[in-house]
Amino acid sequence: MLDLLHTTKTHDEARQGEAVELAPTGKADGRKLYIESYGCQMNFSDSEIVASILIDQGFETTKDYKEADVVFINTCSIRENAEQRVRNRLKEFEAAKAKNPGLVVGVLGCMAERLKSKFLEEEKLVDVVVGPDAYRDLPNLINKVEDGNKAVNVLLSREETYADISPIRLNSNGVSAFISIMRGCDNMCSFCVVPFTRGRERSRDAVSIVKEAQDLFNAGYREVTLLGQNVDSYKYTPKVEEGQEPEATINFANLLELVAQVSPELRIRFSTSHPKDITDEVLYTMAKYENICKYIHLPVQSGNSRVLELMNRTYDREWYMERVDAIRRIMPDCAISTDVITGFCTETEEEHAETLSMMDYVKYDFAYMFAYSERPGTLAAKRYEDDIPEDVKKRRLTEVVNKQQIHSLERISQYVGKVHKVLIEGFSKRSDQDYCGRNDQNTMVVFPVDPRYKVGDYVNVLGESCTSATLIGKIVD
Ligand code: SAH
Ligand code: SF4
Ligand code: F3S
Repeated sequence: MLDLLHTTKTHDEARQGEAVELAPTGKADGRKLYIESYGCQMNFSDSEIVASILIDQGFETTKDYKEADVVFINTCSIRENAEQRVRNRLKEFEAAKAKNPGLVVGVLGCMAERLKSKFLEEEKLVDVVVGPDAYRDLPNLINKVEDGNKAVNVLLSREETYADISPIRLNSNGVSAFISIMRGCDNMCSFCVVPFTRGRERSRDAVSIVKEAQDLFNAGYREVTLLGQNVDSYKYTPKVEEGQEPEATINFANLLELVAQVSPELRIRFSTSHPKDITDEVLYTMAKYENICKYIHLPVQSGNSRVLELMNRTYDREWYMERVDAIRRIMPDCAISTDVITGFCTETEEEHAETLSMMDYVKYDFAYMFAYSERPGTLAAKRYEDDIPEDVKKRRLTEVVNKQQIHSLERISQYVGKVHKVLIEGFSKRSDQDYCGRNDQNTMVVFPVDPRYKVGDYVNVLGESCTSATLIGKIVD
């Protein structure tokens, strides 16, 4: 859920790199698994699949890596510092391994995929390296390690979507859950390592997605977030049974509609939308269903058309603005957030100023902001020189962050004095006298506990005051 908190943090402090441990499960006699996740929501969602696969093998999970038999770290490669964080964490596992030489240490996810068997040479304590499409092989790989070998499986797949595996919702509030609807990415943005670590784009069977949403709803969940690197290019063609007519292909707008129809009491969110692919059909579908939340994460990356072209984003400044205009036209109350990269190769001061003016144009509700970090193997690393000095990247980043701070406050201030439908997600971090939850626009709302309502209920909250990150209010009937 880290991504969904409304605070003006850089991406590195928020979505990328916070470790969330899984809560323990019940079985008493199994071997113990500890798993820690870094990176985007897809990685957190994958850890739930990994837990499911190993619990099927008799494992139980633990929150304390010191008592584990198997320690997994699900890693992110998006920026240099995301990888550094993982390496530092691995150092901390060394003491546990020294105490218990039988401990299996595994590296999963994007760094595993990027570095492959090199990982085993670089980090001696690592026993097993597993890429994002190879998790079904984990039981076999663990057996290999227990037989005294090192094990690697980093095969990428064109088909794997783990559609049939029910994720174990171990770290959950029981109210909101992620559903992966697709894997991989075919976009090849020049700065980005994801196409190399996650492979080709593939969409998951729509029937299994709707079933997962229905099962979650039946289990008391009231919000699902549909996940993919580029959800707008979701496309699933049902397999044709013998003697039957082929069914129509399901696009993202169709899928949203199917999930929205599970129940009007189930809120739908999704991430991430690509500006080149978000269609009016998606926007009209969002507008049609009250339970599809009016919030779109629409990463701009840069406000300048030349830089966007170098980034291979395949849209320009005007296209992006037109998409924002369409969102405002079709859903005037829709919140928009973004990702920004400062100091991409050859970016001039004037071009950076266009990112700032784009921010003024859109007035984002929220943004994740980064200084460009060159990633080995990407198109940008091959084609362009990483020629903007670190201090310039950082200064531009500060300008972007400061502007966003102002816009976040401006946006959230508009919510003061209005009544918001909020799904109670739990107690506020600061006090168990307060509940927290989000409004339709994904703004975090904090309000005093009212014993008539419990976690998972919808309440109407009047906004009374705010910070740039949180709306503070009270329940009204
Ligand atoms: N699929 C999503 C983004 C996934 S990565 C999309 O297309 O928008 C999340 C964010 O990390 C990106 O939007 C980008 O802003 C940032 N990012 C990716 N590679 C980066 C790099 N090499 N340096 C700095 N930021 C990067
Ligand atoms: Fe990376 Fe671009 Fe794919 Fe997003 S759309 S994951 S930024 S290549
Ligand atoms: Fe990181 Fe991989 Fe996600 S590189 S951002 S964990 S897809």
